[in-house]
Amino acid sequence: MLAASFGIFMITAQSSPNIALIKYWGNRDDALRLPAADSLSMVLDFPTVQAHIEPATTFTVRSYDHAGIEKPQNEASMQRLKKHWELSKQFLESIGQSQGIPQEVSITIRSGIPPAIGIASSAAVFSCLGEAYGALVKGKALTREQVSILSRIGSGSAGRNSFGGYVALKNHGEGIGSAYGRQIVDEHHWLLHDIIIVPSREEKKVGSTEGHALASTSPLFKERLEQIPRRMRECIDALQTKDFEKLQRVSEEDALDMHRVMQTQTPPLEYLSDATHRIIRDIEKLRKSDKLDVLYTMDAGPTVHLICTEDSRGAVETFAQQQKDCIVFKAKTGNASSIKNI
Ligand code: PMV
Repeated sequence: MLAASFGIFMITAQSSPNIALIKYWGNRDDALRLPAADSLSMVLDFPTVQAHIEPATTFTVRSYDHAGIEKPQNEASMQRLKKHWELSKQFLESIGQSQGIPQEVSITIRSGIPPAIGIASSAAVFSCLGEAYGALVKGKALTREQVSILSRIGSGSAGRNSFGGYVALKNHGEGIGSAYGRQIVDEHHWLLHDIIIVPSREEKKVGSTEGHALASTSPLFKERLEQIPRRMRECIDALQTKDFEKLQRVSEEDALDMHRVMQTQTPPLEYLSDATHRIIRDIEKLRKSDKLDVLYTMDAGPTVHLICTEDSRGAVETFAQQQKDCIVFKAKTGNASSIKNI
């Protein structure tokens, strides 16, 4: 969509989080957010984030939470957003697409994601911004891979939102544009649900940006990098053939492996809580006794994502609702980030 070619400069983009089946943890280049290894996720349809941008004389950001209340940006998140904009201009310049790109932009973010619930809001926010920055381009429309790069520069996992369904983020060579998304199968191929159990809503103490930068201090990191190509192959095959058992085996193996790396890096990061471990144990028992197609996975927090098939959804939802002192959210396979107006 070429906003600038119509002389229209107010752009609204929409996106949602994704949940990784093969996790991204650690970078080969922290400043450019180039991941150390490939990753793969399911894009979710809920909750959504909208970003509205327009050219401005100074870079400004206003942000509103899920209740519509303005949430002032702290210094660190302001710097991250500004750096993302600067790197985005640098990338557009490097591909000869900087004509018509304003010097600065004014951004308004409206997030439907409740804070600290273990759903990656950064993926939704930065994929929204990547989508919006891409629509500023005056020349030939960007490819979805180029939009993915614009998103990835802000948050590695955001690079997996520029396609719908199941998306890999893959490394290709060197430089700012050398990691981008590729669709494995689209959102119509296999409907899966993500029943999200949130045991705690405390803000996490160490965010993923700091965590990625120290991943290589774990003695298990090298072995993790060696295992990922095989896991990627198995995960892709499981998705293409809709083999749930295979998907379950490989994604749980990878999630637990990522957490072992986190726990053994310096300083160690322990994101999982007693409640997380209890939920995992109980779902393992239930899956066996009731023959359910359900798998668990956790990102940088105690929240447990229970990914299941349509047939197993009812039982998994009932299990989730029975968890004491937990909040439950429901999402399913979703679409790519997109432009809403212009
Ligand atoms: O995109 P980031 O920097 O927020 O990193 C995401 C890291 C994990 O959520 C833990 C894993 C993943 O692949 O989404």
